[in-house]
Amino acid sequence: MNQKFENIKTLKGELKLPGDKSISHRSVMFASMANGVSVIRNCSNSEDVYSTIECFKKLGCKFDFRNDEIKVTGRGWKGFTKPEGELYAGNSGTTTRLISGILSAQDFESVITGDESLSQRPMKRIVEPLTLMGANISANEKGFLPLRIKPSVSLKAVDYKLQVASAQVKSAMILCAVHLEDESVITEHIPTRNHTEKLLKLKTEQSTDGTKIFISKKNYPVPFNITVPSDISSAAFFMVLALLTHDSEIVIKNVSLNETRTGVIQVLKNMGGKILIENESLENGEPIGDLRIFSSKLKNVEIPREIIPNIIDEIPILSVAGVFAEGNFKVTNAKELRVKESDRIKSLCANFAKAGLSINEFEDGFELSGKPSDSYANFKSFGDHRIAMAFAVMSTLLKNGGTVEDFECVGISNPNFLDQIRKLSN
Ligand code: S3P
Repeated sequence: MNQKFENIKTLKGELKLPGDKSISHRSVMFASMANGVSVIRNCSNSEDVYSTIECFKKLGCKFDFRNDEIKVTGRGWKGFTKPEGELYAGNSGTTTRLISGILSAQDFESVITGDESLSQRPMKRIVEPLTLMGANISANEKGFLPLRIKPSVSLKAVDYKLQVASAQVKSAMILCAVHLEDESVITEHIPTRNHTEKLLKLKTEQSTDGTKIFISKKNYPVPFNITVPSDISSAAFFMVLALLTHDSEIVIKNVSLNETRTGVIQVLKNMGGKILIENESLENGEPIGDLRIFSSKLKNVEIPREIIPNIIDEIPILSVAGVFAEGNFKVTNAKELRVKESDRIKSLCANFAKAGLSINEFEDGFELSGKPSDSYANFKSFGDHRIAMAFAVMSTLLKNGGTVEDFECVGISNPNFLDQIRKLSN
């Protein structure tokens, strides 16, 4: 589907977004692992989270959907049943990598497949550390899907330093380690999102090597109730649009303000964005609050290396903000962008070139200069939801608007994006 966008002058109103995708994936997984009934409210309605739910249905879990609630009946420690056929993870890296840790500890064989994009994403990063734990897991000869996981002869606790700054790799190991009596220690040098640690109430400790995380069977999930806070990564698109339109003021309710995810607010504030945080509270150990955003004049700032994992999903929309800000937008140390739902460095540079900007592409980032041309722009989504939404926002900021091809992929994280943008711009 080609989606047309017209120029938007002003954004006003209040926005309620579905639950954070990362927290929703984990809530569905931990509820499925627990022995009994858990209740998840405001779960993400994204296609990615449905991929996780479908996998756990195949593993014998029960899901009752009622209004804004999902009642999950979990199977308990090693209680999953052998799935019939393959487990299909769709477009979702989080589903694939986290479920691999859980399946490594089961007594049956399973195979994980995915769509074309997921089938080209690196899996060695989980195969290697899970193998060190004694898991019997293999990817294909290129290190891609399908993943084949057989029962392990013997799993063992590890003391391991993460080799990639990835919450998915860290979580895969944690979810294998919660099946073991002995304590595992995982050390991460550069902080990545810590929802798994918070939801499982894991002990952590700061050391000269970074954060040490301690995991054993004591941390195996038990039934719980959760209201998932709204998704800051989905909120980011509306934050940037409100900042860059005139006389705008919007409020985004109950947004997850986990410290490993708020880099996008920090960067936009450093750029001169007026963003207020109101009504702060805690939900299952996760900080939440309302964001009030006003039109602002932005200028580009340096983006430090340490903040990259925190803003990795928001770089597409931050780069759009950078196009309309004073000075040049530049990001480096972000090679991970090349192994997301698309090669995001390539996708972003290709689309910005279509808008008439000058581009300097690096292996680990890019720099933009010049101003977008007035001619009508045709952007590509590259089948990548965050690229689609970033260039939807870009189109609405262009004098003559623009089109985003293959826009339906927005459903991967936010199926209601179009309704939300219409509501705020009317
Ligand atoms: C996620 C971790 C990040 C992020 C992804 C969701 C998670 O990926 O980009 O959208 O929920 O753990 P990496 O772990 O590959 O950095």
